[in-house]
Amino acid sequence: MNVSIIGTGYVGLTTGACLAYLGHHVTCVDTDQSKIERLEGGEIPIYEPCLKELVQDARPNIKFTTAYEEAIPQSEVVFIAVGTPTGQNGAPDLRYLQAAAYNVGDCLRGEFTVVVNKSTVPIGSGNWVGSLISERAKAAFSVASNPEFLREGAAISDTLYPDRIVVGSDCKKTAALLYTLYRPIIEQSFSAPRYLPRPEGMGAVPLISADLASAELVKYAANAFLALKISYINEIGCLANRVGADIEQVAKGIGLDRRIGNRFLQAGIGWGGSCFGKDTAALVATAKEYGLEMPIVEAAREVNQAQRERAVNTLLRELKILKGRTIGLLGLAFKPDTDDLRDAPALDVARKLLERGARVRVHDPIAMERSRRENPSLALCYCETAEEVACGADAVMLMTEWLEYRDLKWEVMAEYMKSPVVLDGRHMLNRARMEKAGLNLISLSS
Ligand code: UDX
Repeated sequence: MNVSIIGTGYVGLTTGACLAYLGHHVTCVDTDQSKIERLEGGEIPIYEPCLKELVQDARPNIKFTTAYEEAIPQSEVVFIAVGTPTGQNGAPDLRYLQAAAYNVGDCLRGEFTVVVNKSTVPIGSGNWVGSLISERAKAAFSVASNPEFLREGAAISDTLYPDRIVVGSDCKKTAALLYTLYRPIIEQSFSAPRYLPRPEGMGAVPLISADLASAELVKYAANAFLALKISYINEIGCLANRVGADIEQVAKGIGLDRRIGNRFLQAGIGWGGSCFGKDTAALVATAKEYGLEMPIVEAAREVNQAQRERAVNTLLRELKILKGRTIGLLGLAFKPDTDDLRDAPALDVARKLLERGARVRVHDPIAMERSRRENPSLALCYCETAEEVACGADAVMLMTEWLEYRDLKWEVMAEYMKSPVVLDGRHMLNRARMEKAGLNLISLSS
């Protein structure tokens, strides 16, 4: 099928590359000329495992352009995957979505085009986008919602091997077209990329066909649930710390109950990233428009913010004074396998430490360059290695769960440090091993 993707961020680029890999003819559109030039030249502007290889493999089927008219007229399906950043009062800023809808409307020429909202948009946006396109369109179209559930760092795997595909549409023809588009994924009939084998036991992928509003709400409800699962384990973690219980054992003990499940129960500094904060804020804002409160979702947000404060307070209690201390942070990205720094807990903690007069040394395997670029006014001391971070440090805080930090030569780290305090903000370090290395391992406490 002929497909256009508007927006070449994480979602757009991943979707485009995967659909092209499956054999569809994909044109990616972005208004950022330099980004399009880099993509045309084979460069991938974001760090995402396997994306470069996938784009290379799919190269004959994928084009990049800044011109809507080169893409939309011949497309059977148009995905809108533009950014929807948080605007005022927590509601998303829909400027880019509006511009994309008008541009698509101007260029529609096909017999029947399905326009798919892939961006996370407030409930009711499907109808809104439809009305915007109608103002301009001279050809038949229908709007569908097809929320994405991809995690950064695992975006390709989540797209090719998803738990489910959700399609929201009030029109049978639209649902049928999207079924055809996704058929290779639904039936898992494509040959798996050599660098990303099909997970063992992977069967057919369930397709949820729903109305527009339901599909839109699925996305928010899923992300809010994951966010509150993390905040819940963090709240229990605080109590565990007080009563002398081990939160990892508690998480294991509850996670083996299949009704609860063991994923997203990793306690620590909490969630960051572009989705959980934005989507929970949007859910609360939408509910407010309808005169509803969302106390559970709001509590999840408060607990998450409190974890960052708690990290600094835990260190203050341990070191007594933060002013003039040297603190090392391991990890800057909001999670491993990405250089994304949006709402990264590490940066928040770094700011709080700097405000209290500490010196902050940082390391991240891939996000340092981006951090330097995006935070020019933050007086961080960037270190090439984790060992360098430890040099003269009064404490080291593990902020991002990069596996390489678990496997560091902690004996060497201990030698470099001024005092042997390590705060494990992700519960990934082994206590016995750390003690053997002469380190005092502490976790977040209230
Ligand atoms: C999330 C959703 O998982 C995905 O389905 C949606 O489409 C986009 O938002 P993402 O933000 O990429 O994906 O990352 P995710 O893996 O969900 O992690 C989010 C944050 O939660 C990270 O900061 C991570 O470190 C943290 N986290 C995750 C925990 O603190 N504990 C956990 O148990 C899991």
